[in-house]
Amino acid sequence: MSAAPLLKVNNLKMYYSVEGGWVKAVDGLFLDIYRNECVGIVGESGCGKSSLALTIIRVLPSNSKIFSGEILFEGENMLELSEEDFRKRIRWKKISIVFQGAMNSLNPVITIGDQIVETILAHENMSKKEAWERAENLLRLVGIDPKRAKSYPFEFSGGMKQRAMIAMALALNPSLLIADEMTTALDVIIQAQIINLVAELKRGLNLSSIIISHDIPLVFSSSDRIFIMYAGKIVEHGSTEEIYYSPMHPYTFLLLDSVPDIRGKRRTLGFIEGAPPNLLDPPTGCRFHPRCPFTIDICRKEEPEMSTVSFSHHVACHRIEEITLS
Ligand SMILES: Nc1ncnc2c1ncn2[C@@H]1O[C@H](COP(=O)(O)OP(=O)(O)OP(=O)(O)O)[C@@H](O)[C@H]1O
Ligand SMILES: [Mg+2]
Repeated sequence: MSAAPLLKVNNLKMYYSVEGGWVKAVDGLFLDIYRNECVGIVGESGCGKSSLALTIIRVLPSNSKIFSGEILFEGENMLELSEEDFRKRIRWKKISIVFQGAMNSLNPVITIGDQIVETILAHENMSKKEAWERAENLLRLVGIDPKRAKSYPFEFSGGMKQRAMIAMALALNPSLLIADEMTTALDVIIQAQIINLVAELKRGLNLSSIIISHDIPLVFSSSDRIFIMYAGKIVEHGSTEEIYYSPMHPYTFLLLDSVPDIRGKRRTLGFIEGAPPNLLDPPTGCRFHPRCPFTIDICRKEEPEMSTVSFSHHVACHRIEEITLS
C-alpha cells in the first residue's frame, strides 16, 4: 500500500429528511482506499451502502443533506467542489459507478455499442469512429465479443448486460470504480465471473474499486480488504483473510453465519435474528446491541470506539477482548 490513500472518507454524515425527522443513512463513517486496491463493503439491506456510494459520486436525492465530513480524493475534498467542477473533472472521469439495478436502465431501443459511444461522446472530444473503436475495445476488455456491439439490450443475457454496464463505467478511464450490488439478479456462477472481472481490471487498468454487496463470500475472491457496514457506520474492517477467517465483530459473525460462544471454546450459538434498525431512530450505544448475543450494559449506553487488532484489522465492539480470547 502506498502512503496516501486514493480516497479517504472522514466522519461522513449524510441524512435523508423524511416526515418525522432525519434518516441517518451514513452516520460518522470512515473509509480509505489505496491505489490499485479492491475494497468490499458488506452489510445487510438498509445499512446505508448505496447512500454512501451516492454521496461519493454526488448523485444525491433532493431530500438528502450532508451534515459533516470530508471525502478526500487524491487529497482534495470533493465536498468543497462546485457541482460544475465535480461534473467536469471527477464524475465518470476519475470516479465512476455501476449503480444498483443499473442493467435495467439500459435503453431498450438503442444498441449496446451506441449507448457506450454516446457516453464517450458526451464527455470527450473525438470522432464517432474513434468512439466506436474505444467502445469495441471496452467490450473486449469486459469479455464481450465486439461483434455484439450492434446488439440491443434484450439480446444480451443478464451477465452480458452487467458487463456492458461495467464497460460504460470504464468508458472515460476512471481511477476508482464503485460497483453497487451489480450481481444481485444473476446466478452464482455468473456473479463470481463478474466479480472476478472487476478484480482482473484492477491488474490491467491500474484501477481501484469498491464492490458493494450483502455477501462476504462473494467479495472474498476479489477484495483486498473488506469493510463491514451496519446501520450507517463501519463496525469492522480488515484484510479479506482477517474478516473471513478471524472475524471479531458479532455482526460480522452474523454475516458469516457463525457465532462463537465467547464464554468457552468455539461453539456455534446459531443464527442472529432481527433486522437492521430504522435509521430514523437508531438504538443508543452500539447500534447492533438489540440483536447482539453478547450485549452488556455498556453496549446500550456507549458507542464503541474503533480499536486496533492488527495493522490492518480494526473493530468497534465493547467486548472485543473477550472475543479475542475465545
Ligand atoms: N431518498 C430517500 N429518502 C429517505 N430515506 C431513504 C432514501 N434512500 C434511502 N433511504 C433510507 O436510508 C437507509 C439506507 O438505505 P440504502 O439504500 O443506502 O441501504 P443499502 O445498504 O444500500 O440497502 P440495499 O442492500 O437494500 O441496497 C434505509 O433506511 C433507507 O430506507
Ligand atoms: Mg443499496
